Amino acid sequence: MVDQTSKTRTAADLVALARTARERAHAPYSGFKVGAAVECRDGRVFTGCNVENSSYGLSLCAERVAIFKAISEGARDFARIAVIADAHLPVRPCGACRQVMSDLFGGEAEVVMANLRGELETKSVGELLPAPFDRSFL
Ligand code: THU
Repeated sequence: MVDQTSKTRTAADLVALARTARERAHAPYSGFKVGAAVECRDGRVFTGCNVENSSYGLSLCAERVAIFKAISEGARDFARIAVIADAHLPVRPCGACRQVMSDLFGGEAEVVMANLRGELETKSVGELLPAPFDRSFL
């Protein structure tokens, strides 16, 4: 966990934390390493990497590892998440991770997508998942 006021942290700073987390990815099956860093409104950052399993469906994406680490440490108020991979475009979160972000962050939070070439693209959670399933259906 990294502690710093979020006012002084740029998107590039958050991506740098995600990039370091990516180095710890456990991706022996796909070879596709992903890192993520979720930032809380109080400035705390929790990082994650993808963790694959020989029973492939048990694998977890970097974003959900970071988000669930944050939740398990008591964090609730999320502002931004950065995600990075070695991709031809800034990497896009999968649909399952978009649903988790939508539920826990709301539509306004920012998703900073990046690749190792230094390209960044920022969209809101609501742009990435415009018509989510949510608690109102329950
Ligand atoms: N992966 C992530 O960690 N995040 C994403 O947003 C896309 C996919 C991981 C899952 C799997 O370990 C590998 O990338 C290939 O799909």
